[in-house]
Amino acid sequence: MTKESLELLMHRDATLTEARLKEYYEEDEDIKVLLDAERYSLFAGGKRVRPVLVIEFCKLFGGREEAALPFACGLEMLHTASLIHDDLPCMDNDDLRRGKPTNHKVFGETMALLAGDSLLIGAFEAVASNRAVTPEIAANATAYLASCAGRYGMVGGQVMDLEGEHKKLTLDQLLKLHSMKTGALINSACVLGALAAGISPDSNAMRDVVTYAEKIGLAFQILDDLLDKIGNAEELGKNVGMDEEREKNTFLSFFSQEEAAEYAKRLTKEATEAIGRYPGSETLCDLALWLSKRTK
Ligand code: IPE
Ligand code: IPE
Ligand code: MG
Ligand code: MG
Ligand code: MG
Repeated sequence: MTKESLELLMHRDATLTEARLKEYYEEDEDIKVLLDAERYSLFAGGKRVRPVLVIEFCKLFGGREEAALPFACGLEMLHTASLIHDDLPCMDNDDLRRGKPTNHKVFGETMALLAGDSLLIGAFEAVASNRAVTPEIAANATAYLASCAGRYGMVGGQVMDLEGEHKKLTLDQLLKLHSMKTGALINSACVLGALAAGISPDSNAMRDVVTYAEKIGLAFQILDDLLDKIGNAEELGKNVGMDEEREKNTFLSFFSQEEAAEYAKRLTKEATEAIGRYPGSETLCDLALWLSKRTK
């Protein structure tokens, strides 16, 4: 698949997800500021990587897009909630996200906190109430997402990240931190896609999905660290070098930029090998490759 046709496909999945995301909102003048704060970040130009993973894994295993879409929306709501909270002054204290002022810079800290809470809860509502799958699949997906988002997943990873400031972690701890902070949600995107297609949680196919997910999740965070270091055109105003000021542990505490890029490349190759034998997996292999070369 050419880069152009992959990007077209990603754009298509993103557009479908965005249209569906809008359906979770109806106007209510009394809580307008909350709805505006949520939608400000939800529609601020994210890459929609997690929804694309949900939809494409569902399609890989012969599932219907309709079954994947509520899961895709849930993942994106949860991801957005994590970013709003991540940018707060009590966490990374960032002024810019995706080239725009962060949520709390526009709506204030209180509303940013509540918008994150509401998106977090809305995510589980979207996943649990997916009527295009069986109640059993919806329940499995909800439980899996919760386990990836909570104390042993994304939230735990954020804690390791913050607790790790100003002290040196071992490489094993950094790998654990990353697999929780970033990897867990990417993992749940892939797994929820496969669940939507009816793949059993304890099947070999699901194990292959998880292997792919773990590899691209780690590669994704390596790229994030590299891009944070180098800075990128869209986020020039972002606190470039922040991670050094805050003495956060990143891959670049252990590897040179070249080594880190090489590491990401190797993980990407292993990811594609994990799912290569499934007919139609070219799209997800190309997506892994695309992610490893991303510039934002
Ligand atoms: C950024 O995630 C934060 C991490 C988990 C590393 P993305 O790079 O997917 O963010 P957007 O949604 O595309 O801005
Ligand atoms: C964010 O990690 C991860 C989550 C929100 C769970 P970072 O703090 O490294 O992400 P950026 O660099 O702000 O996007
Ligand atoms: Mg952070
Ligand atoms: Mg951050
Ligand atoms: Mg980062």
